[in-house]
Amino acid sequence: MTKALPKLARAATNPDLAAAFTTHLEETQGQIERIDQAVESTNVKLKRIKCVAMEGLVEEGQEQIEEIEKGPILDAALIAAAQKVEHYEIATYGTLAALAKKLGYTAATQLLLETLKEEKATDEKLTLLAEQEVSKEQAGKKVTS
Ligand SMILES: [Fe+2]
Repeated sequence: MTKALPKLARAATNPDLAAAFTTHLEETQGQIERIDQAVESTNVKLKRIKCVAMEGLVEEGQEQIEEIEKGPILDAALIAAAQKVEHYEIATYGTLAALAKKLGYTAATQLLLETLKEEKATDEKLTLLAEQEVSKEQAGKKVTS
């Protein structure tokens, strides 16, 4: 996501949406650090593996950027693509936090819950931006009709 978010920010027309992607890029960098801290705190040796589901979601967003002209429709597609990623992250961090708690890894649980909170907040922010876009469109139609 740290590679995908700058692309989403560049593709967005709505400056608030671009800013949301940039803000989430910074948060995501912090989340990577938290993952490392969480793993370290458990003393469990973990192997890094590529997440193919995430790779697919990122690719889907990339396809939208290539296929849709820059503007409100692409913005809506970017929000949808980003929300799919956030929902996937929410599911993953939620599961990990629950497992860490069950295993008694208190520090890791806290770190994972902190990230989970950020992901949920980002998801809500994206919903708000999508709703604002829709009401702007409706306001425009009222003026022209
Ligand atoms: Fe995220």
